[in-house]
Amino acid sequence: MEKLKQRIMEQSSVLSNDVLRMDAIINQQVDPALTMEMGHEFANRYAEDGITKVVTVESSGIPAAFTTAYVLGVPLVFARRKKTLIADPDVYCERVPSFTKGIVTDIMISKPFLSKEDRILFIDDIIANGDAARGLIRIIERSGATLAGIGIVVEKAFQAGGKLLREQGIRVESLVQIASLDNGEITFK
Ligand code: G4P
Ligand code: NA
Ligand code: NA
Repeated sequence: MEKLKQRIMEQSSVLSNDVLRMDAIINQQVDPALTMEMGHEFANRYAEDGITKVVTVESSGIPAAFTTAYVLGVPLVFARRKKTLIADPDVYCERVPSFTKGIVTDIMISKPFLSKEDRILFIDDIIANGDAARGLIRIIERSGATLAGIGIVVEKAFQAGGKLLREQGIRVESLVQIASLDNGEITFK
């Protein structure tokens, strides 16, 4: 998606060799028109896949997942991040480590929001090592729903997340792939 590449060049900054600050377009400020274009792009790529539901993880995945769900005309379900004290039998819960934050969090979806009949499109804003994605995939598997594919706004292709998912046979579509952030420079793949 050329427009997104342009916006990344204009409005993001390289924090280190592996982290790109995108507060102005993804993590704090959102451009509705640009996010709507993301939704059209994901919806086009998965138009023939019989998607019944879009799923993401709060919080930064929600805008692109919302526009995708809107274009496809299906509901959006977002996994919550919560500290769990007791196991709730009505909730799918998975513990995921976060590479950037150095902590573990629990992501959860209430069981009634996923069913065996669902064909899921999982949308996320950024993929790094893919830990959050793997957690959400485990939840989808446990529900008996089918994962039709994954849509990622920004794939950091120099980290393993996207590659590992593709190696498992999962279809992963990224709007932008970043090959490197070395020396403070953004290089697209
Ligand atoms: P992973 O799931 O692919 O392994 O990624 P990781 O654990 O490293 O991600 C932890 C959080 O950091 C995620 O946000 C992810 O989107 C974000 N993140 C990872 N790399 C980058 C980066 O280069 N730039 C930016 N801006 N964010 C990055 P989250 O915990 O899901 O929080 P939220 O933003 O959705 O609230
Ligand atoms: Na994020
Ligand atoms: Na996210």
